[in-house]
Order: sequence, then C-alpha cells, then structure tokens
Amino acid sequence: MNKLITKLQKSLAAFLAFVFALVFTTITYAADAPSAANIAEGGKLFHANCATCHSLGSNKVTGPGLQGVTDRVPAPYQDWMFKWIKNNAALRKSGDAYANKVYADNNGVAMTVFDGTLTDDQIKNIIAYVANPPKEVAQTTGGETSTTGSAKTESGVSDKWIVLLIIGVLLIIITVLRTVRKSLLTVANEKKGIPTVDMGFWKGTIHWIKTHKVHFAVINIFLFACFVTYGWEYLWGIDVTPGYHPSQPINFRHDVHAGQNGIACIYCHSGAEKGKVAGIPTLNVCMNCHKGIQGSNPDFQKEIAKVYDAVGWDPQKAAYTKAPHPVKWNRVHVLPDFAYFNHSQHVSVGKLDCKNCHGDVASFTTDQQFAPLTMGWCIDCHRQTPVQMQGNGYYTKLHEALMKQDTSRKVTEAEMGGLECGKCHY
Ligand code: HEC
Ligand code: HEC
Ligand code: HEC
Ligand code: HEC
Ligand code: HEC
Ligand code: HEC
Repeated sequence: MNKLITKLQKSLAAFLAFVFALVFTTITYAADAPSAANIAEGGKLFHANCATCHSLGSNKVTGPGLQGVTDRVPAPYQDWMFKWIKNNAALRKSGDAYANKVYADNNGVAMTVFDGTLTDDQIKNIIAYVANPPKEVAQTTGGETSTTGSAKTESGVSDKWIVLLIIGVLLIIITVLRTVRKSLLTVANEKKGIPTVDMGFWKGTIHWIKTHKVHFAVINIFLFACFVTYGWEYLWGIDVTPGYHPSQPINFRHDVHAGQNGIACIYCHSGAEKGKVAGIPTLNVCMNCHKGIQGSNPDFQKEIAKVYDAVGWDPQKAAYTKAPHPVKWNRVHVLPDFAYFNHSQHVSVGKLDCKNCHGDVASFTTDQQFAPLTMGWCIDCHRQTPVQMQGNGYYTKLHEALMKQDTSRKVTEAEMGGLECGKCHY
C-alpha cells in the first residue's frame, strides 16, 4: 500500500509538472505573439507616420482604409506588409503583382518609403497594431454610434483574465489532488491500523509550508512577480483615457459636418492656426448654415431644434425671438494645467494635420479622445517627427547649423529642444 501511495504521489507530481509545463508554454507562446505593449507602441507609430494617409476604417484618405487589409494582401500578411511598408517602391519594382495592383488602383499615388525612418521592430509593431486595431475606431468608421473601451484596456483585461483562469484551474486541481491523496492515505493507514490525524485545512496548510519551504518560497516569488508586473501596468494606465467620449447636449456629428459635407476643421476651430487653443465654435457660426438647414430627417431635425432653442431662433418666423442661452459642451480633451500645449506651434509651424493627434475626426459620430495625451506620447512624436525646414524664417539659422553637420539627416523636433522640460512645463 505504501508503495502504491509513493507511486501515486510520483505520478501526481509528474501530472502537476505537466500542467505547469503547459501553462508555461502557453505563457511563452503568448509572449511571442504581439503583446499589448507592442500593439500600443505600434499605435503611436501609426498615428505619427501613417494616419495622415490611412484610416483604420474602410474610408479612403490618401491611401486606402486599412480595415481588413490583413485579409486582402498576399499571405502571410506579416511578410508582405513588412516589405511594403519598408520600401513599397522596391516591392513594386520586384514585380509583385498585388503591390502593382494597389498602386494602379490608387491612380499611381506613391506611398512614403519608410526604409531608414522606421526600424524593423517598429514596422512589426505597426503591423501588429493594424492587425489589432482599437475597437472604437473600427466601430465609428463603421457608422455605429456606440463606442466602448479601448484596445489597450480591453486586451489588458483579457490577459489578466487568462492568468486568473489559469490560477483558478490550478487551485481546483490542487484541491482535488489533495483530497485524493488524503483519502488514499486514510485507506492505507486503516489497513496498517494507524489512526489518521486530520489536521484540517489551515493546520494542514501550515504543516505543508513548514515541510516544503522551497516550494513555498518559489510560489511566493511567482505571485510577487505577477503582482508587481500587473500593478506596474495598472498604475501606468491610471487617468490615461483614449476612447473617452462624453455625451453632448446636442448630438453634433463630425462625420456629417467634416465628413459628408466636407467643412474644413479650421472653419469651426479657427483658433488652432492662430493660438494655443483650437476653441469650440460659437452657435453664431452654426447659424451661418442652420438658418437655412433644418435637417433632412427627424433625428437631425430634433438635434438642430436644440440649436435653434439655444440661440432663440424661430424657424417659422425666420427671426430671433427668444433670449439665447449657451450650450454646455462637455470637454473631451484635458491636459493637466502644468503641461503647456499650443495648437499653432503644431498646426501652423509644424504643419501637422489634426489627424495626427485627433484621429480621423471626419468619421466620428461622437467626438472622442483619440491619443493617450501622456507625456510619453508628446515625447515620442517629438523624437520621430522631422521639423519643417522650408519657409520658416525664425528657425532658418538654427536649421542651417544643424543641417551643416549632416545634410542627409532629418532634424527631429527632439533636436530642436522638444525634450526640454521647460518647453512644456513652466
Ligand atoms: C503619403 C501618404 C501615405 C503614408 C504616410 C502611408 N501610406 Fe500606406 N499607402 C498610401 C497609398 C497612396 C497606398 C496605395 C498604394 C499606392 O498607391 O502606392 C498605400 C497602401 C498601403 C497598404 C496596402 C493597402 C491595401 O489596400 O492593400 C498598406 C498595408 C499601407 N499602405 C500601410 C501603411 C503604413 C503601415 C503606413 C505607416 C508606416 C503607411 N501606409 C503610410 C499612402 C500612404
Ligand atoms: C461645423 C463645425 C465643426 C467642424 C467643421 C469641425 N468641428 Fe470639431 N467640434 C465642433 C463642436 C461644436 C465641438 C464640441 C462638441 C463635441 O465635442 O462633439 C467640436 C469638438 C471637437 C473636438 C473635441 C474638443 C474637446 O472637447 O476636447 C475635437 C478634437 C475636434 N472637434 C476636432 C475637429 C477636427 C479635427 C475637425 C476636422 C476634421 C473638426 N473638429 C471639424 C464643431 C466642428
Ligand atoms: C500635436 C498634436 C495636435 C494637433 C496636430 C492638433 N491637436 Fe487639437 N489638441 C491636442 C491636445 C494635446 C489637446 C488638449 C489641449 C489641452 O487640454 O490644453 C487638444 C485639444 C483640442 C480641442 C479642444 C480644446 C481646445 O484647445 O479648444 C480642439 C477643438 C482641437 N484640439 C481641435 C484641433 C483641430 C481642429 C486641429 C487641426 C487643425 C488640431 N486640434 C490639431 C493636440 C493636437
Ligand atoms: C457650413 C455649414 C454648417 C455649419 C457651419 C454647421 N452645420 Fe450643422 N449641418 C450642416 C449640414 C449640411 C447638415 C446636414 C443636414 C441634413 O443632411 O439634413 C447639418 C446637420 C446638423 C445636425 C444634425 C446632424 C447631427 O450632427 O446630429 C446638427 C445637430 C447640427 N448640424 C448642428 C450644428 C452645430 C451645433 C453647429 C455649430 C457648431 C453646426 N451644425 C454648424 C451644415 C452646417
Ligand atoms: C504628432 C506629433 C506631435 C505630438 C503628438 C506632439 N508634438 Fe509638440 N511638436 C511637434 C513638432 C513637429 C514640433 C515642431 C514645430 C516646429 O517648430 O517646426 C513641436 C513643437 C512643440 C513645442 C515647441 C518646442 C520648441 O522648440 O519651441 C512644444 C512646447 C510642444 N511641441 C509641446 C507638445 C506637447 C505638450 C505635446 C503633448 C501634449 C506635444 N507637443 C505633442 C510634434 C508633436
Ligand atoms: C513635449 C512636452 C513635454 C516635455 C518636453 C516634458 N513633459 Fe512632463 N509632461 C508633459 C505632459 C503633457 C504631461 C501630462 C501627462 C498626463 O497628464 O498624463 C507631463 C507630466 C509630467 C509629470 C507628472 C507625472 C505624470 O506623468 O503625469 C512630471 C513629473 C513631468 N511631466 C516631468 C517632466 C520632466 C522632469 C521633464 C524633462 C525631463 C518633462 N516633464 C518634459 C509634457 C512634457
């Protein structure tokens, strides 16, 4: 009987080792697949390098919308996209049929060659991001009103759930095996006539800890490592809210105005070119058009009626009849007061498109925060974005001095002082 128990114990140990090995291979496999961090990194790079020409939806900007692109390019998509992003001109020259087809389909508008600008790892991260786009972008471009969550928190949560599930399953297995072992021991002891001492759960556990100090230490180190890793990630995510989309008193739709009707962003957010704040237009700006436009369907009419109500306009009499009252828009983007951000520095001097920082607003049904708005986000872009060299008298001298060192090099904002604390904090 004793032999049987040792045998059983051995096979149990083997079984447990097998389960652990399984868990480990799953975890290492998961680490091999693009992680949430890779995707997040790819997202930043995508916004800095690709979003000016590509949306993640189905709508065309300069280049085709990248929704479902991983299914339409030659398989395996990772390889083709890598070659394409690195040097699309070279890929076309090599006679690649699909590359020449998209080129022709887009009337021969050439995409930027990124060889030299992006490292191989950066390209891989971008591909991971394109293959796993954040939920809200895919949904809004699909024309749906409800937008929820962000890819980062979502994949973060699912990762945590998988680990919790694995821990849960292991606990169940351990409990079952303990019970089996106990009953076998009882049977064996009964045969030998030795009374079994049942120490109960807590005493038993304490006894186990005392007799298995190394096992206990290893388990503790593992749990501590998990705690630190997830705690760290969690702390980094506090107050970082891409995808934030408060409801608004009037359901103003950017897709209807900036998208379908092609109204320039600057028409309403005129401050973006001139100063620090882009500004929300006053209702007078709205009335330039809405004196005439009352809405082509009941949904639009209902919302436009709120505009009339706020400005005191009577559409029947075509006159202002009542006292106006302001519309209290809910603010979407808020940087802390200790950080200084200036729109004109970026829009007028840097010649950056709104898309770089606000996403494809022209396709948004509800306005939402697109970028994480963290310090790392500002800094990353400053490290990567070349400054506009031409047509800027103020910087010409500085540019020339920097260019003399090596003319083939692109001068990034980081080299212009874009990493100095005092530029953003004072
Ligand atoms: C200057 C504009 C521009 C930029 C910047 C740009 N692209 Fe493109 N992209 C295009 C155009 C235009 C096409 C269509 C093919 C052509 O005409 O060469 C294209 C095609 C593609 C395709 C193939 C799409 C399909 O439907 O098969 C992929 C994938 C792609 N780009 C990814 C990227 C990524 C990733 C980045 C950022 C690293 C990027 N592009 C940056 C303009 C751009
Ligand atoms: C017809 C006027 C109009 C046009 C055109 C327009 N917007 Fe807006 N925008 C508004 C109004 C009104 C709000 C406030 C309501 C809201 O947040 O949805 C707003 C809000 C925003 C916000 C969020 C502000 C905050 O609270 O943080 C951003 C960002 C923005 N717009 C960017 C753009 C961009 C980029 C474009 C061009 C693609 C654009 N807008 C075109 C009227 C306009
Ligand atoms: C370099 C990144 C960047 C670019 C480019 C950019 N924005 Fe912004 N935008 C921001 C940030 C950051 C905030 C938050 C500012 C704050 O809270 O002080 C913001 C806030 C806003 C707001 C709301 C608060 C305000 O300042 O009125 C609007 C509206 C807006 N942007 C519109 C635009 C439009 C329109 C364009 C293009 C003409 C544009 N932005 C280009 C980063 C950018
Ligand atoms: C340049 C002209 C123009 C300006 C300026 C303008 N709109 Fe509109 N708006 C339109 C057009 C065109 C439509 C589409 C009407 C339709 O299809 O029935 C529309 C539709 C709407 C709708 C119904 C669709 C929706 O978005 O829910 C609302 C509400 C609205 N506008 C509010 C506003 C507000 C608020 C402003 C000012 C911040 C404004 N508009 C400024 C042209 C304009
Ligand atoms: C999409 C890229 C991008 C992002 C994101 C971005 N910047 Fe910039 N920023 C630039 C570029 C490009 C310039 C250089 C403009 C020029 O002088 O040509 C610049 C310039 C500046 C300057 C002026 C620096 C100087 O040398 O005087 C400040 C300050 C600044 N950015 C602050 C911020 C802050 C704060 C954020 C984040 C909230 C931010 N930027 C996010 C691209 C970006
Ligand atoms: C390009 C602009 C920029 C530069 C340069 C910059 N910061 Fe920041 N910093 C920001 C922004 C924007 C935030 C707000 C981030 C947020 O709300 O998550 C911030 C936040 C912070 C915070 C608060 C902690 C946090 O993450 O919210 C500290 C501390 C800080 N910065 C220190 C520094 C120091 C020290 C330097 C110089 C080495 C520096 N910053 C350079 C833009 C900048």
